[in-house]
Amino acid sequence: MNKQGRLLGIGPTDNTSDQRTPRQRLRLIPEAARASFTPYISAGVAPTAGENDMTRIAPDLPQASGVPIEVTGRVTNELGQPQRGVLIEIWNANRFGRYTHIEDNSGLELDPNFLGLGRVVTDEDGFYRYWTIRPGAYLARPDIGRWRPKHIHMSLLGGGTRLITQMYFAGDEHNDRDPMRILMADKFERNIGKEYSPETDDIENGYRFDIVVGGTNPTFFEQRIC
Ligand SMILES: [Fe+2]
Repeated sequence: MNKQGRLLGIGPTDNTSDQRTPRQRLRLIPEAARASFTPYISAGVAPTAGENDMTRIAPDLPQASGVPIEVTGRVTNELGQPQRGVLIEIWNANRFGRYTHIEDNSGLELDPNFLGLGRVVTDEDGFYRYWTIRPGAYLARPDIGRWRPKHIHMSLLGGGTRLITQMYFAGDEHNDRDPMRILMADKFERNIGKEYSPETDDIENGYRFDIVVGGTNPTFFEQRIC
């Protein structure tokens, strides 16, 4: 939780937030560095073909259980200029709301055909596209009955800057009580994927999620690691 959220007494009741709060004084990053988001991808981290298709673990393996969806969008700065070469890392829960992760102790069903991890790099127009399975909502805090609505995590890596955000789905019954959504206040709309009909035959739904980095009115990001 950021300082403002703490002062206002609102925001996440997640008991891991404190663990993720810096314990040492923050270092002041020069304004020029903070204002810039200068993506570049070295050959070492460039995704290979197929890493943007999370509906299968490998091309010759069965499709994961659930509804296959497409997510597309452009990454731009506040002037609408494309951000090329941004490495986007994606992770989401499976259709049952379970992550393939050692720290997911929910006991919910795992899907042997779904890892829930993907990568893609924005093209010359700042455009990206990936496929995944529509995630399920999950009970993040059974002790207080707090759910997380359906969402997809996305990390954007550009130069020395990493921005992390989440795409939400319109109409989810748990949206309004989600701690991060509460912090977004009236800017929540921009973090909702706008539904469209995809052209790909075996994909059920498409969601447009344009991302604005930098400037005074960016997409809502959870954290900046520099
Ligand atoms: Fe999540």
